Amino acid sequence: MADECFGLPRLAAVYDPLDPDRGDLDAYLRIAEEVGARRVLDIGCGTGVFALLLADRGIEVVGVDPAEASLDVARGKPGSERVRWIHGDATALPPLRADLATMTGNVAQAIVDPRTWRETLRGAYAALRPGGHLVLETRDPARRAWQEWNREASYGVTEIPGVGAVENWVEVTDVSGQLVTFRWTYVFAADGEVLTSDSTLRFRERQEIETELIAQGYVVEDVRDAPDRPGREFVFLARRPESG
Ligand SMILES: C[S@@+](CC[C@H](N)C(=O)[O-])C[C@H]1O[C@@H](n2cnc3c(N)ncnc32)[C@H](O)[C@@H]1O
Repeated sequence: MADECFGLPRLAAVYDPLDPDRGDLDAYLRIAEEVGARRVLDIGCGTGVFALLLADRGIEVVGVDPAEASLDVARGKPGSERVRWIHGDATALPPLRADLATMTGNVAQAIVDPRTWRETLRGAYAALRPGGHLVLETRDPARRAWQEWNREASYGVTEIPGVGAVENWVEVTDVSGQLVTFRWTYVFAADGEVLTSDSTLRFRERQEIETELIAQGYVVEDVRDAPDRPGREFVFLARRPESG
């Protein structure tokens, strides 16, 4: 079951307007350029923002996500017919021979279950051509980002055309080892509906991710900073070997 914020139609529809600054994706466009990608698999594509940016640049894109409501938002956007949208995850993909697989927006952290995580990395590997790259980001646990996820810091009211004012905020409900659980609350002024969305993220250590990537056959080429969030994220650039 997808988290409500991705899987409930009313919440999926306001995902982009509530988080309109996608400057985080610039670095991923540069990476696509850097590796000369002509065919990209966007894992956890959500509402399709990155997939559509790539398609606008003439890149062939497959976007996969388990949240149907988010895919419906993506399918309703201009240019969406240029992207192949797949409802599901990276564990059961058709043969793709992609040059690059991406996981933007901390998708890696949303894949909490260790087996699903392993199978996702394996599925991405199988979807890449030999020599193809995987890029993914995850928050550095040492920065304890969840300490800032509280009502005071997150509260906002956003006026969304066609929807009206939406009030929203986040609160952490549990921290257990690597797992952080939090709840977003949304209040729709138009009809007073209050919706909540519960999510759990896994905060993995850098070494743990490197070890898992290597175990799945990748070569870890680089671990970078996210330029828009300096010192807060690990951005892994891994490659399926030419002979793999
Ligand atoms: C924070 S959103 C990021 C969406 C998009 N990548 C972006 O940058 O806007 C996380 C996404 O991960 C997706 N997701 C959750 N579990 C997943 C899985 N096992 N495989 C692929 N995507 C998954 C969710 O449905 C959601 O769309």
